[in-house]
Amino acid sequence: MGFNDNIVEEIKSRCNIVDVIGRHVQLKKTGGNHKGLCPFHNEKTPSFVVSEDKQIFTCFGCGATGDVIEFTQRFNNMDFQGAIEKLADEYSIELKNTGFGTEGKKVQLYEVNREAAAFFYNSFTKEPNKAATYMRSRGLEPNILRKFGIGYADDQWQSLYELLKGKGYQDELLLSLGLVSSSNNRIFDKFRDRVIFPIINTRGKVVGFGGRAIGDGMPKYLNSHESAVFQKKNNLYGLNLTREDINREDCAILVEGYMDVISLYQHGVRNVSASLGTALTENQAAMLKRYTSNIVLAYDADEAGQTAALRGMEILYKAGCNVKVLDIPDGKDPDDFVRKNGREAFLELVRQATPFMDYKLRRLKKQVDLNTTEGSVAFLKKAALEMKNLSPVEAETYIKKIAAETGISEGAFRLEVFGSGYSAIPKEQGKAEARRKGKAGCTMLEANLIRLMLLKSSYIPQIEPYKNAFETAACYRIFEILRSLYKPDEEIDLKQLEDSLDEEAIAILKHTMDTIQFADRDNRVFEECIDHIRATTSMKREEELIQVLSILDDEKDSDKILELSKELMEIQKERYKGTRNEL
Ligand code: GTP
Ligand code: MN
Repeated sequence: MGFNDNIVEEIKSRCNIVDVIGRHVQLKKTGGNHKGLCPFHNEKTPSFVVSEDKQIFTCFGCGATGDVIEFTQRFNNMDFQGAIEKLADEYSIELKNTGFGTEGKKVQLYEVNREAAAFFYNSFTKEPNKAATYMRSRGLEPNILRKFGIGYADDQWQSLYELLKGKGYQDELLLSLGLVSSSNNRIFDKFRDRVIFPIINTRGKVVGFGGRAIGDGMPKYLNSHESAVFQKKNNLYGLNLTREDINREDCAILVEGYMDVISLYQHGVRNVSASLGTALTENQAAMLKRYTSNIVLAYDADEAGQTAALRGMEILYKAGCNVKVLDIPDGKDPDDFVRKNGREAFLELVRQATPFMDYKLRRLKKQVDLNTTEGSVAFLKKAALEMKNLSPVEAETYIKKIAAETGISEGAFRLEVFGSGYSAIPKEQGKAEARRKGKAGCTMLEANLIRLMLLKSSYIPQIEPYKNAFETAACYRIFEILRSLYKPDEEIDLKQLEDSLDEEAIAILKHTMDTIQFADRDNRVFEECIDHIRATTSMKREEELIQVLSILDDEKDSDKILELSKELMEIQKERYKGTRNEL
């Protein structure tokens, strides 16, 4: 069934992008565009622009861009079809005979999954059966098992297949959903002799299944493969049931496994969800972020779990979340812990969860021997790099903390934080400038600026704001005279200029007149000069800030330190952006 192109056009013309985005992002009209904070990355100053004329959005911060359908897809974590259906629904656009809406193919896929879920569920309720016995043995209560729709896939080879075939579903469809597999031209059930966890999305559709071996079978867990309705990266287990709790508590506890979700839920910790054993994805982070920005990771204490936690934290942090990590004692997982120690003890762990940066620093510390100088230096260098990812306020807090813990002075550490990784190159710069001064006795920049003002007097007022660029005294004198002689729409009278200048200045003037020609490129040269001045100015300011920050008194000047750190980070961020754009 081909999708009807007309409907896509109709959606685009009837769903004004400013209106659609305006429902989720506060937009401000600026000129012909609308501007706001980008919903796809974490930012404090708006770089997200929506064009009503072009009907597109663009973020100059993260590069996200697209039309109204792409926005809807991305914002809601939907596929193309989902976005079309959502927009059509919101703008009362008829989808009949378009290949979308209730006639779409996905609807059938969901229907089959629901049939399968019902079948597994029914088998589970017909006691006795191995799955129910197993789940009870793990302390789970019938009402909770019902709530999660837990099922049983029996140990026959074709029970589900026979049922669905009987209902008229084609093999191809069942294979595409991963409910059955084929081997030697025979088709048989994929899930056999397993506890079944239906995976249900936040719209209430059964998208896939997880199956746990009963006892020690291998593999321990088997999941539906990816299909048109199931993408692991777009789903979080349990969120269909727990998102309201997450929203209400303004906190989500993220665990690794199905059992952890159900077990915590039964113990009254209901703001919980699982990333299904895979590393957390950006889409999953964005999904969670719709309900809360406060995430506590409760991953297994083993190395794999902790590595996954670290990666997950980075992703969540980038998505703009506050992230903490739970420390579960004795290498237990959340299910083990809550079953043994109960809800209150678990909540106490949550209260004591380690913030993202502390967790990272703790891991860094473990990698070195802080009793040796080499170890301390290695730690401080790595820690300094981490500080760069923080907001100035946070960075300041950690700088104090780390300094206190390691006994290094705050100033020295601050210098490492702001000075490392970037070369402010003031000394090299100075040498280069001197070299460039050459015969004329002034820098190329100065010569170019003077030549520009002589060529067209309109450059004089344009250059005025940058007059500090005239470092050579004689050049500054030339500028001052030019400024005093300047009249709009009149070029400078050279004779008059020379009369007002000393010999040294006249020599420079002559030299520039003789050696510099712009052809028609004066405008370009002007822009390059201004860019150069701006870059040099911020570089000098950066160097100055680093120096000042390293000598300020940690206690007395803390406000000042914060203010200057902010400025410094802005400058460094700007330059970082600049270098990236060049690449
Ligand atoms: P129980 O052993 O039943 O308590 O489950 P658990 O949640 O403690 O399992 P574990 O910590 O071993 O794994 C966490 C999650 O990783 C599981 O819930 C699964 O989603 C996934 N997982 C674990 N083992 C496998 C496996 O063998 N195959 C696949 N595909 N996923 C697995
Ligand atoms: Mn477990």
